[in-house]
Amino acid sequence: MARLVIRGGRPLRGEVSISGAKNSALALMVAAALARGETVLHNVPHDRDVMTMADILRELGVKAVFVAPHELHIDGTGLKTDTAPYEAVRQMRASFYVAGLLLARLRRARVPLPGGCQLGSRPVDFHLRGFEALGARVNIEYGYMTAEASRLAGTTIFINRASVGTTINLMLAATLAEGTTVLENAAKEPEIVDLAVLLNSMGARIRGAGTDAIRIDGVDELHPTEHWVIPDRIEAGTYMMAAGITGGDIVLNNVELNHLRTPVGKLMETGLRVEAEAPGRVRAFIDPHVRLRATDVETAPYPGFPTDLQPPFVALLSVADGTSVVRETIFDRFRFVDELRRMGADIRVERDTAIVRGVEKLTGAPVEAMDLRAGAALVLAALAAEGETQISGVELIDRGYEEIEKKLAGVGADIERCEDRDGQGGSNSGIPHQGIWQPTPSG
Ligand code: EPZ
Repeated sequence: MARLVIRGGRPLRGEVSISGAKNSALALMVAAALARGETVLHNVPHDRDVMTMADILRELGVKAVFVAPHELHIDGTGLKTDTAPYEAVRQMRASFYVAGLLLARLRRARVPLPGGCQLGSRPVDFHLRGFEALGARVNIEYGYMTAEASRLAGTTIFINRASVGTTINLMLAATLAEGTTVLENAAKEPEIVDLAVLLNSMGARIRGAGTDAIRIDGVDELHPTEHWVIPDRIEAGTYMMAAGITGGDIVLNNVELNHLRTPVGKLMETGLRVEAEAPGRVRAFIDPHVRLRATDVETAPYPGFPTDLQPPFVALLSVADGTSVVRETIFDRFRFVDELRRMGADIRVERDTAIVRGVEKLTGAPVEAMDLRAGAALVLAALAAEGETQISGVELIDRGYEEIEKKLAGVGADIERCEDRDGQGGSNSGIPHQGIWQPTPSG
């Protein structure tokens, strides 16, 4: 187990490079395995979830090899089993995407149900209904979903709640189905568009990605290609907030500002300034003598305010001047607030709403990251807090933030990673070598 030890109070200054989008990469890796032949994915983040997905694909017989730090080669030629490994899939919800892959390639998928997690109950009923609509017989037995189809036939599917994962899974399955599938009320996230771009360059025929109606004309087979993963908008938003909460001035490289319009608008309401300096290069800064201001926000599917930035934003608002009201509409995602309270935050949660009364200062404390974005919130709070904060559960932060302590140290944070194994502490990059990273339990 590892901890992050952060001594707060330093305004962050300098440049940071944003990684490729984790949530895009996870879908793209599975999509690449739809083809026989080697697809090259560039700008793949070297984070824990990506390693877990690579492990799962390898267990299915798919080749998944990092040939350079951010260059991943995927080849689906060897796909040999219709059964996904139980433990790994239970531990990472996105691994349910292999259901779409297996159904498309083998017409049969046996995939463990991902189960609940720290974000509350997260069913996959929309995915299952979609597979059935495409002609699969779906059963749940012994913790596994089994889906079988002699043929997959395109149809029109209305997705409840514009679910990201359902849209991805059905795009994967429908790409190799017979005829035309129309996904209505589809998710519009940039990660969906990235997936459509990859699939189309593999020979798929997908139109409308990025709107709420996606039309997929099935093809017989796909071919390998080369693709660059879009920048991680959630990581970028987190580093912008790190500039804000510390009264700092950070230049972020490899950012797609268009994907961040709503959160940037909200950040500007708090007094943070966000300016495009050049394509892909964005400066986030605040006058160090100006205190952040409170604002209200509600999470929503893209292009609304992303739920994945809600916890770090609550951390930022916890030191803003005034009272902010934050409503979470996607997940049950306020448990981290208890940890922020240990650091002196004044936050009351009533069902799906947090009322955040900004305090003058936070103070360091031992706290625990309960999930990935909750961990990001604690890191931000710790960067601003007086004294030392020790954050346990760092493995969860590693799921989606590549080399967080290196990146933050690079902009002046006093941060180190301590391994608890030997009781000695000491820093460590936290990024293990490819192929030896074991998945850890989480949501
Ligand atoms: C994706 O999760 C992301 N994960 C999440 O990021 C993100 O928070 C979420 O989308 C919302 O933007 C990945 O991309 C790997 P949904 P996903 O299906 O696909 C309900 C992070 O921190 N629902 O859009 O699982 C669901 O419970 C992670 O990086 C059903 O009821 O989210 C939720 O309330 C966490 N039945 C809503 O829909 C279903 O079958 C939207 O969920 C599917 C979803």
